[in-house]
Amino acid sequence: MKITDTSDLWWKNAVVYCLDVETFMDWNGDGTGDFLGLAQRIDHLAELGITCLWLMPFYPTADKDDGYDVSDHYGVDARLGHLGDLVELIRTAKDRGMRVIADLVVNHTSDQHPWFKAARSSKDNEYRDFYVWRSEPPPDTSDQVVFPDQQEGIWAHDEKTDEYYLHRFYRHQPDLNVVNPRVREEIAKVIGFWLEMGLDGFRVDAVPYFLETLGTSEGEAASYGDPHSYLRSIRSFLGRRNGSAILLGEVNLPFAEQVSYYGAGDGDELTMMFDFVSMQALYLAMARHDARPLADALRSRPTIPADCQWATFVRNHDELTLDKLSPDERQEVFAAFGPTEEMQIYGRGLRRRLPPMLDGDPRRVRMAYSLLFSLPGTPTLFYGEEIGMGENLDAPGRLAVRTPMQWSDDHNGGFSTARPARLPGPVTGGGFGPEYVNVSAQRRDPDSLLTFMSLLVRRYRECPELGWTAVEVLEQPHDSVLALRSSVDDAVVITLHNLAPDPVTVPLSLDLEEGDYRLVDLLADGEIDVTSTGDAEVALDGYGHRWMRLVSPANRRLV
Ligand code: NOJ
Repeated sequence: MKITDTSDLWWKNAVVYCLDVETFMDWNGDGTGDFLGLAQRIDHLAELGITCLWLMPFYPTADKDDGYDVSDHYGVDARLGHLGDLVELIRTAKDRGMRVIADLVVNHTSDQHPWFKAARSSKDNEYRDFYVWRSEPPPDTSDQVVFPDQQEGIWAHDEKTDEYYLHRFYRHQPDLNVVNPRVREEIAKVIGFWLEMGLDGFRVDAVPYFLETLGTSEGEAASYGDPHSYLRSIRSFLGRRNGSAILLGEVNLPFAEQVSYYGAGDGDELTMMFDFVSMQALYLAMARHDARPLADALRSRPTIPADCQWATFVRNHDELTLDKLSPDERQEVFAAFGPTEEMQIYGRGLRRRLPPMLDGDPRRVRMAYSLLFSLPGTPTLFYGEEIGMGENLDAPGRLAVRTPMQWSDDHNGGFSTARPARLPGPVTGGGFGPEYVNVSAQRRDPDSLLTFMSLLVRRYRECPELGWTAVEVLEQPHDSVLALRSSVDDAVVITLHNLAPDPVTVPLSLDLEEGDYRLVDLLADGEIDVTSTGDAEVALDGYGHRWMRLVSPANRRLV
């Protein structure tokens, strides 16, 4: 790997930041975040070192699923601004060295989308086959729903034409019928349109559901062929329109099934996928003060095509799903981090942010983020994580973690000058509220979480081997410690994280060619002697973290 490869395959050591324009910064004072506000705050993201901005859906919407119910794929929700504001934002982000991607939500539309309105108007409407219909009453599908307390099944009855339409998610989100070539053509146009507007790719919503042929006839499904060939065709279309654009897919499946979505061989389907399995193992490991579940998850990661990448994260905008853990493991995480029912959701996840789960303990919070940035992959942050925002359990369901961004200790946390009742959701209160947790104070504080996160971002970017490497878990005697070696050519970084409260000394055997070595700290001052064949002893505080570069006289890497 050459250092110049990092600008070519830019996503392999990007730092992604996800935000919802609606809750980020309100500039016109109407209570809703907007593109003008986001543009005003772009320098906060640039200073943090973000290289890729992921915009949650900003399209016109019926707004029953926070914008994931799109009613027009070619516009901007008027509450957030207009197309011109978006283009200015993209341009400004690029000027600050950031690429911009956005959610592509094409598994379904809103039931308010003109296609669905037309489709449900009569059985012979030309848009009827844009959606998936059945005439027979469906069997019980209550075990197939995504949102257990919100859906009874995945088919809804439509009065007008007395048929049932497929909806993998809420009933107001009818699934598009990708078996229909006209639908595929429309989806391509949507992709092409936003690339022309300046986007660098998409976070693709609900990929397995989007590609599936459930509810279509055998003949139709056969004419559509292998869903992966459709995904391949989307990727090649994307590549023709913008050669460095990416598809970051939401594919929450076990590794063995997930890996096929990168595409066989050289990776011609999704460029990146979220690593849901390791994320969940991280929580189990933290709950147990035992790094082994995470080490096991990392070791079980399948090999992926060289140009592809895992997106690592500790939380996203949805519930912190624990669906890949066993029921007992899930209960362990619930007991440790979300013991009351109001903290849990859908029987499988938590509606909490990380810092409150760790009782705001700065050692644990920093250790967790240091660990995130040290994992092989591309770290993906959800807005507010950089300052340690908490959740607001008074907000319903998943909205608990989508509260307004906390800029200062002013009215509404500096998010908006409007009356609180006009905001998209309540500002977080208590010890994690804006009075104690806000950007403005942390910018001035060299010891703040924000300062620490900026350092992590900087070091992660300077150590591309962290993003590019295959996993190597180093053997050492402490169950509470995760020791990783990330190496590409002669660039070697050792990262150590202690998930337990007691300090430890970690003996390492790096098994090196005879030479003159040191391990130099990258996140603090300090260094450690290494024997000529690579043995060393590293002291780690309780919940401690260390990143160390292996240095030898012949090695000219910057420390
Ligand atoms: C996945 C998104 O992450 C989630 O927020 C949304 O509710 C569903 N897809 C439906 O679009």
